[in-house]
This record gives sequence, structure tokens and C-alpha cells, in this order.
Amino acid sequence: MLAGKRILLIIGGGVAAFKSLILIRQLRERGATVVPVITRAGQAFVTPLSASALSAEKVYTDLFDLTDEAEMGHIELSRDADLVVVAPATADLLGKMAHGLADDLASTLLLATDKRVLVAPAMNVRMWEHPAVQRNVATLKSDGILFAGPTEGAMACGEFGLGRLVEPDEIADAVAATLSQGPLAGRHVIVTSGPTHEPIDPVRYIANRSSGAQGTAMAAALAGLGAHVTFVTGPADVPPPAGVATVRVETASEMLDAVRAALPADAAVFAAAVADWRVASASDKKIKKGDAGTMPSLDFAENPDILATVSQMTEGRPPLVIGFAAETDDVVANATAKRARKQCDWIVANDVSPETGNMGGQDNTVIVISAEGADTWPRMGKDQVARKLAAKIAAEIAGTPA
Ligand code: C5P
Repeated sequence: MLAGKRILLIIGGGVAAFKSLILIRQLRERGATVVPVITRAGQAFVTPLSASALSAEKVYTDLFDLTDEAEMGHIELSRDADLVVVAPATADLLGKMAHGLADDLASTLLLATDKRVLVAPAMNVRMWEHPAVQRNVATLKSDGILFAGPTEGAMACGEFGLGRLVEPDEIADAVAATLSQGPLAGRHVIVTSGPTHEPIDPVRYIANRSSGAQGTAMAAALAGLGAHVTFVTGPADVPPPAGVATVRVETASEMLDAVRAALPADAAVFAAAVADWRVASASDKKIKKGDAGTMPSLDFAENPDILATVSQMTEGRPPLVIGFAAETDDVVANATAKRARKQCDWIVANDVSPETGNMGGQDNTVIVISAEGADTWPRMGKDQVARKLAAKIAAEIAGTPA
């Protein structure tokens, strides 16, 4: 799957660095060539000898190694790869990247490269949550740096929380997704996911129930076929897929803005459970509990319908626009009417009445409604639904058989 691909793997310093050795093996098993670069701190945890033994490549450590400059300069080294991966990416490396510092080989390569960069951070939870690190992460994301993790879990330091390196096979999946030469390579697909939160006041909100599982699976499946995915997500329960450009939003209006900003696209998949209404005059102060028996009353305003807005665009409409429809009764009739009303191309309808267990569960039973009519798919995992739908999208826009 990664045959012929060359990956420059920058190994930062941290207890998790040992996992980079497993990553080298997994990437090579998938056919990639891995060229390791180990930072000075990284060498306290992983030796160049072990990285070289596992990669069967020369390992680079020093910017001023004249032999390397004679053989291959640092500019060439940074350009020669198809993808630059940083794993583990320490707080220090992220900080250098965010600020354009270049005081060692790793940071110089990261500044000189013209290739995409995927980082897999690993650090203590307090460090990860520190505003300085979060500022750097936001800067890097807006620079287009791709992130795999971190994830939550027990840490070597004995604490628990977000900051753990994602497992090597997940990093390898993210690499494959980023480099995939699948049928959707070169295509851009926007996916919305999760609920939206519409504020009542700074501490309260109204929302739809949505785990974000189906939208997240859709984004991962499309990326797996090589698509460049912009994943616009509300506050979901499940984390966004590794290696996918993610835009986090809260409200329906923010979601519409993010979708517009992501256009043009070859396809748009609107899997988010967008709140239909927002509180018209949300309070910017917490609404106080009044005298016993008195209740606040809320006025609502209609939210923009993102699916309908994009479907009905006269200019710049993606050639394929797909909506989802959660229904509790008359699924086919309601979803067919919804397709016509919103003017999207397909509606993926599912029955979310409680007895089906579809909502929040692992599985889904969907009916795909298109101009050709209704096609009922057998009950399958949400991941499988996503893969089957991604293949159908590829067949539609790239002409490959579904
Ligand atoms: O009308 P209903 O909410 O059932 O339609 C569901 C479909 O419309 C989903 O694809 C959802 O993402 C989309 N939608 C939207 N903006 C809204 C409401 C729904 O994009 N405000």
C-alpha cells in the first residue's frame, strides 16, 4: 500500500520514542522506505544503531555532519521524502515548528521541507494542555500540519489524560491515508459531523444527540481512498480521524462558515446533526435562577440549513452533495421528500427509532436514496457503511467501480 513511498521519520525525545521503532517496522511492512532522523533528546531513548537496523537506512542526527552535506544536503533530505512524519513530536519540537526555529537537523528539515508534515504528539497531559502548547498546535493546524493524536491514557509519568502517543499502527494508517493513491487521490471532499451546540448562555446550550461516529468513519474512509478531506466537526464524542484536516466548530452558523471556507470541493457529505434552531437572544451572562415558579422563556430563530444552502448554490456547488436523514417513521417517504426539498443528490437515511439501536450504536441500517430510487443496505458496522459509501462516491466522481 505504501510501496515506493519514502518517509522521513523525525524521532523526538520522550519515553514514547521506543514506539517509533515499531512504527519503522510497520511502515516498512507496508512497503515504505523509512529514513530516520533522531533529535539529540531522541537519542537518549532510541539509538541510531537500532533505528538503522530496523530501517536498513542511514540514520541522520547532526546538522553539521559534513559527510552528509557532501552526500545529501539537508534541503535535499527534506525534499526527497513523500511525507515527513514526526513521532513522537515533543512540546519542544512543536514549539520550534510553530515559530519557525531551525537550530538542529530536525527543526531545519521541518522548515525546509516542501512536503506535507504529519505529527504524532506525545507529552505529559499538563504540558499538552498548557496554553502555550495549545497556541502552537492551533498555529500548526492553521499552517496545514496534520495531526495524529494525541490520545488519552495512562502515561509513563503515572498521570492519566490526553497526551499519549497514538499507537504505531494508527500512525501508519494516517500515513497511508495521507499518501494513499486511491481512486479519490487529488479530490477534495468536505465532511460535516457531530452535533452543533447552540448557546442559551455561556454555560447552557441546546443540541441534537450525535456521537459523531458515522461522520468520523466517513472522513476516515474517504481519506483511505486518497481524498483530501476537510472534516468540519461540532463537539462530538469520538475523536476526529488521524491525519485528516479538522476544523472544530460549535454552532450551525460556524459550521456553515467553515464549509463555505473549505469550498471548492468535488463532493460534500453532510453527516452532522445540526440543530435546527438557535436561541435568538442568547445571553452573554449566565441566566440566574429566578424566584420559585418563574421560568425563563427562550425565543428561537431558525438556523441555516447547510445541506440545502450548499445543494442550492448556483455557483461553486460541489458536483456531488450528500445528506443524511435520521428518521423515526416512514423512513423512505420522508427521506425521499427531504432529498427533493433540499435538492441534494443522495440522502443516506437511517431509522433512529430507539428499538433499532442505530443511534449511538456501532451498527447502522441505511437506505441510500438517489435519483434512481431507494437502495436498502443490509445492517452493518458504521465503519462498513462508511467504506461502502466512500466507494460509491469514488464510483460517482472518479468513475471507479463501487
Ligand atoms: O432536515 P434534517 O435535519 O432531517 O436533514 C438532515 C440532513 O440535513 C443532514 O445531512 C444534516 O447534516 C443536514 N442539515 C444541515 N443543516 C441544518 C439541518 C440539517 O446541513 N440546519
